[in-house]
Parts: sequence; structure tokens; C-alpha cells
Amino acid sequence: MCGIIGYTGKGDAKEIMLDALELLEYRGYDSAGIALLKDGRTQMIKRAGRVKDLRNLCARINPEGQCGIGHTRWATHGGVCDENAHPHRFGSVTLIHNGIIENYRELIDKYELEGSLISETDSEVVAAVLQHFYQGDPYSAIRRTVLKLKGTFALAIMFDDQPDQIFAVRNVSPIVVAATADGAILSSDVAAIVPFTTDYFVMPELHVVCLKPDKIEMYDLSGDHAKIDWLKVDWDVSRSGKGGYPFYMEKEIMEQPQVIGETILPRVKEGMPDFSEEGIPDPVFADCKRICVIACGTAMHAGLVGKSLIQWVIGIHVDVVMASEFMYNDPVVDKDTLVIAISQSGETIDTLEALKFARKCGSPSISIVNVKGASIARASEYVIYTNAGPEIAVASTKAYTTQLAVLYLITARMALARGIWDEQKAKAFMEELLRVPGVIERVLETKEEIHRLAGCIINARDVFMIGRGLDYSILLEGSLKLKEVSYIHSEAYASGELKHGTIALITEDTPVIAMVTQEKLKSKELSNIREVQSRGARVVLLMKEGETLNEGEQWSCVYRLPVMEDPFMVMPASVVLQLIAYYVSLDKGLDVDKPRNLAKVVTVE
Ligand code: AGP
Repeated sequence: MCGIIGYTGKGDAKEIMLDALELLEYRGYDSAGIALLKDGRTQMIKRAGRVKDLRNLCARINPEGQCGIGHTRWATHGGVCDENAHPHRFGSVTLIHNGIIENYRELIDKYELEGSLISETDSEVVAAVLQHFYQGDPYSAIRRTVLKLKGTFALAIMFDDQPDQIFAVRNVSPIVVAATADGAILSSDVAAIVPFTTDYFVMPELHVVCLKPDKIEMYDLSGDHAKIDWLKVDWDVSRSGKGGYPFYMEKEIMEQPQVIGETILPRVKEGMPDFSEEGIPDPVFADCKRICVIACGTAMHAGLVGKSLIQWVIGIHVDVVMASEFMYNDPVVDKDTLVIAISQSGETIDTLEALKFARKCGSPSISIVNVKGASIARASEYVIYTNAGPEIAVASTKAYTTQLAVLYLITARMALARGIWDEQKAKAFMEELLRVPGVIERVLETKEEIHRLAGCIINARDVFMIGRGLDYSILLEGSLKLKEVSYIHSEAYASGELKHGTIALITEDTPVIAMVTQEKLKSKELSNIREVQSRGARVVLLMKEGETLNEGEQWSCVYRLPVMEDPFMVMPASVVLQLIAYYVSLDKGLDVDKPRNLAKVVTVE
């Protein structure tokens, strides 16, 4: 999960790395550190805390050098302390690591390292094994070490006697590499490369890259020269940065009308959904007998909306499986199962591993990914990119709604490919989909009203969210958002389930957010709301504009959603829930973009 950076060239490596680490901090923010190699000496500066703390420390020490590696950590092995911060050093080897070395204990025993390590990390063990094999040939030492490692790793390594050079190798955990105007750079993430160039490449697994100030070389593990496949960052670089908002989360919420439009429009040809640019032939949509969506967290919640849409329109069975559980339930996927993997980062390891397994079983696969060239995109047969641009806030917002947009497009294309809809029906659906950006714009115009709604729950210890069908699916996401950024305990409940136990928790101190956007479920839903009201709960009601409420009923707060066809109401409703979570976090004075214990990219199981 950690962020990694390496730079060698003519620039001030310390400044370049500190700036990059700030951009990468969303990957983990338990500790940060850098190492600079100069005149055969390596200087390491690291500490628990944020990159700003590291910057202050560097200002006091003022290290110099034009070649260095840096790291921002999300702790796995070993607690949050200065010793466990990266880089790690053993003998003349200094490295940073992202991933988990599963056999680190065995390596400690095999190479008799007990007592000679300073930290509790698996990463320092790798440095020690590298040192064991190092006799002046970095490639040979790296090759021999990699053959001993079990687990996932992205490693950037410096050797004291290899001036101006950084070596890198990876398995699963990503590394991207680029040339800058005056040197070469590597990172876990394109976000750190974008300030320098739009040309980069993704290191293939089990290859060794050597960065020199004027050259980048890549070899496979047999020592043969490997060809580099260059890619281009094709998001608008000006979208990086907070754009005047106090937090990325607000900026990313506000960007949704634009990025949803940019996700839909290139896939609409003459009013019809179209995936010819992605090269997805219609039989992929027409021939499958069932669908299995694999994803984690927010992306999985998008999958739940997709399930409702596809089962409603197409009438085939859709499973939505938490990727982290996929392998533990004897997954049943085959050549008739279309697997759809959804991931903002494209690097979530559980999703990636589940996808690879499904492909081995012969399943056709489509991934819905935001980050271009990410591992999940490369591991699937077809990829549909959400054009959300960089999502920096740990809490996902615009990635979620653009994932939903793609799922609407898939539903429509599938209905056409299977002959379920004629052109007229598909066109009508697409017209409604094309209204989404404008409707969300209207919700955003009411953000101060939503800010006031957030006031109804800010002091709560627990918040329940209730709804049925599609409303329940989006409340699951709304509840995750609230928990993650406000630290308020919250549960989304299918309203009909409440009576089976959970209603026991409802008291006068429990705000309940109730969502009623589906006409066919409205009367049942209103009865469930009355049930919690009778137990004293304060209800915040989200319902369509123009809907009537029974006279005399007591509602603490009501928000009126702009009206769309029922299957599309999830779009405006999601944005309201995102803003509620955001304002609660903001008004509590929390670090909205970097909630405690979290990281944006989850590359460990
Ligand atoms: C969302 O707010 C979360 N931070 C998290 O649930 C996220 O959606 C999940 O980790 C999956 O990430 P991915 O989309 O990059 O695969």
C-alpha cells in the first residue's frame, strides 16, 4: 500500500522526493523517510508521522544528493515507529519496499539474521538477503534474492558503491518509471510522475530496472535486455491539486458532473451504448449465462447497483462477491460466467487475484478501472476505463459514480446485444443516463442545505441508514463513506431486516437516514420509517421532489432529490450521501482526505 519514489539526475533529490511523497501520502501516512546516495555514502532520514514532519526534519539536517529513494508507509509488519519507517539499510544496501514478504521469518533463520536487524519489518530482511548475495554485481544479487522471496514486493534499491543508480524489481505491487528533463524517476504511482512528464511505463513483474541520470535500462531475470512499452498519462494534469477546495474529497465530489459526462459520452454513438473503442465484441455481452462481479469496498457497492440493473433488465443471475472472500468460498466461475472486476486503483490485490483465478477457469472478463495501465486492467481480457481522473482523497466518490455510469452502459449494451431491447428502448435509457450530469449539478447547487442536514447527525454515536432494493445498495455506500471519514459508527440496513433484531438498537439518540426513491417500494418503506419513528428515532428522509408525505407526520429533516427514472435515482442520492459524510467530517475538524488507519490503494491481502 505504501508510496514509493526514487530519483536520480541533476536535480535536488531531497526536494523532488519530499514533493512526490506529499502526492503519494494517500497511499499510507504512518511514517515517511528518504535516503540520499552521494560520494559512496548513504544518508537516511526517516521518522514516524506525516511527510510534513519529515520535511521539517530534513530542513534541520539539510541532506544533499542527486540520487535517492523515499517512502511513505502504511504499517503492516511492525508498529508505527521511527525504526520501522523506510528506507531500511543493511551493510551497503539501502531499500524501500511496498508489499509483504510472507517468508521473512524463514529468511531470518536461513541467513542467521536474528540479532542483527534494527526494525521489526519484513523489508529490512530483504535488505539483509541482498547484502548476503552482493559481491559488486547488483543484477546478480537482485536475481538471487528475488528467487528466495515469497510474497508481494515493489523494491527500490541503492548500493553504496553504485553511484547515481537506483535498481527496482517487483512482484504484484506496482512500479512505474519515467525519464524527466534532467534524470529518471520511479514511483508506486503515476501521480508522482505527472509533474515531470506524461510518458511512463509500468515495470513488468520480475524484471530488473536500472535508473541512471541519462538512461533507463530493463532486464528480465535471466539477464536479457527487455523491451520497454511506453504509455501516456491521458488525464488532464491540471486536475491534480485541490483546485481551491479545502480538501480533495470536496473537489472530487464537485467534479462529478464533468467526469461522469466524460465517462459516458465517448461510449455513446448515435444515441446507442458503444464499446467498439474498447474492442468488446457483442458476443461477450450476449453469450454469458451469468455474471460475477468482483470488487472491494466502494467498488463492490457499485457492483451491487449493477446487479440490480442487470437482473432487472437482462434477467440473468448476477453474483457480487467481495474479492477478499472470493477464494474462501470455492468460487464457481466458468466459461459461461462473465467476470466484471471493478477497481478505482486497479491495484487492489484481492480483486486482482480473484480476477486471475477466474481467467484460469476460462471466464471472459471485463474490468472497470480508473487508473490507466493498472494491474487489474492488464490482467483482464477487456477494460473499460472510468474517466474520473486522479482520485486522491482516500474516500472514493467520483470513482464510484463513474463506475455506476459504466454499469448503466454495460446494461444497455447487453440488452441490445441479447435482443432484449430494440433501439428505441435503448435510446430512451441512454437519454436518461445523459441527464445524470445535469441532475447531479442541481444536487451540488444545494450543498449548503445538505451541510445543514449533516448537522442532524454530527453528534450521534451511531447512525442507521435504511432503504430497500436500490436504495439499500446506495445506503451501504453512504454508510461506508460516513464511517470512513467521520468515525461515526453507522450501519446500512435493508428496512425489512430491521425487525429481525437491529431495531433493538434504535433509541431517541439514534438518527436514521431513510431513503425512498423507488416507487414500487414506497409504501413498504414508509411503514418501516414509521416503525423507527415510533421508537423515538430522528429520521432524515431523502425522497423525490414532488412526492407527497402524509399530513401530520413528523419528519426531523427532509431532502428532496431531483427526479429521474427510478433506476437512475441512485446517482443524485449518492452525491447527497457523499456530501453528508464530507460535512460531518469537516465540521468535526478531521483530516477528511486521510482518515486514520486507511490507505487509498490496498495492495496487501
Ligand atoms: C472507498 O472510500 C474506500 N476507501 C475503499 O473501500 C475502496 O473502494 C476499496 O479499497 C477498493 O479500492 P479500489 O477501487 O481501488 O479497488
